[in-house]
Amino acid sequence: MQIATTIAQARALFDVFAQPLGLVPTMGALHEGHLALVRRARADCLSVAASLFVNPMQFGADEDLAKYPRDFERDRAKLEEAGVDVLFAPEPGTMYPPGFSSAIDVGTLGTVYEGAIRPDHFRGVATVVAKLLNVVRPEVLYLGQKDAQQTAVVRKMVRDLDVPVHVHVVETVRESDGLAMSSRNAYLTAEQRSQAVTLNRALVAMLAAIESGATKAEATELARATLSSLATPDYFDLVDADTFEPLEAVRGPAFVIGAARFGTTRLLDNLWVGRQ
Ligand code: PAJ
Repeated sequence: MQIATTIAQARALFDVFAQPLGLVPTMGALHEGHLALVRRARADCLSVAASLFVNPMQFGADEDLAKYPRDFERDRAKLEEAGVDVLFAPEPGTMYPPGFSSAIDVGTLGTVYEGAIRPDHFRGVATVVAKLLNVVRPEVLYLGQKDAQQTAVVRKMVRDLDVPVHVHVVETVRESDGLAMSSRNAYLTAEQRSQAVTLNRALVAMLAAIESGATKAEATELARATLSSLATPDYFDLVDADTFEPLEAVRGPAFVIGAARFGTTRLLDNLWVGRQ
């Protein structure tokens, strides 16, 4: 596996790799969820690139940027073992040199749910993903269903700005009890970890209720009742899969989405409505 840390190094490498080239962007602290994206890219593409960059622009002032788990050597070894050809691992000053001031704003989709709780988060995500696409120039971009709103934001940016890339979404990888894998699960105490599974259970209950004809209010109430009383729910909702507009009833592709805090750790999850 080759490693590029500057834009010039990355461009020189990506110029010679065979297309289709797949890109898996990450912030490190890698787990099986990330590796599922790499494996999908390895199966589909002739060349596979990954990026490892804890993007300051998508963290709020009071968020966990400084304590975000970083272990370059461990992540490097995992990516190499999973078959990545090139790793792009820039420093913050490489991505955001002095004077950097541009940003991509995707509109309303970026201001609801996660965007309402984390103002400017999706601006930071859309901007860094656009930069990564411009440096790596992949044919296929691999993203996880786990972060459904992020995926919708990036798809919208790609569509609105005519970015020449195909976005491939990979199913959420879960622990054996159903908890969605996340780098943030590492912050949970043993007690919080045992409660964290109730977020997935809440969404499973909500989905079953909606599919058997309950109103959204009833289904949401059931989700809140299923969530551990030790957790604080941020939201549960039924939304359009592309726009994240709230729906009263299912019409077209939709998700049930939920977010809750276990202590200071926020966890997210979602399920497709009307799919296996
Ligand atoms: P990060 O949280 O490291 O996630 C990188 C990718 O892995 C994202 O596309 C995410 O949806 C996917 N992923 C995480 N957990 C997953 C799981 N359990 N199953 C399937 N896929 C999973 O998301 C980011 O980084 C950043 O916002 C980034 C896109 C890299 C931009 O900075």
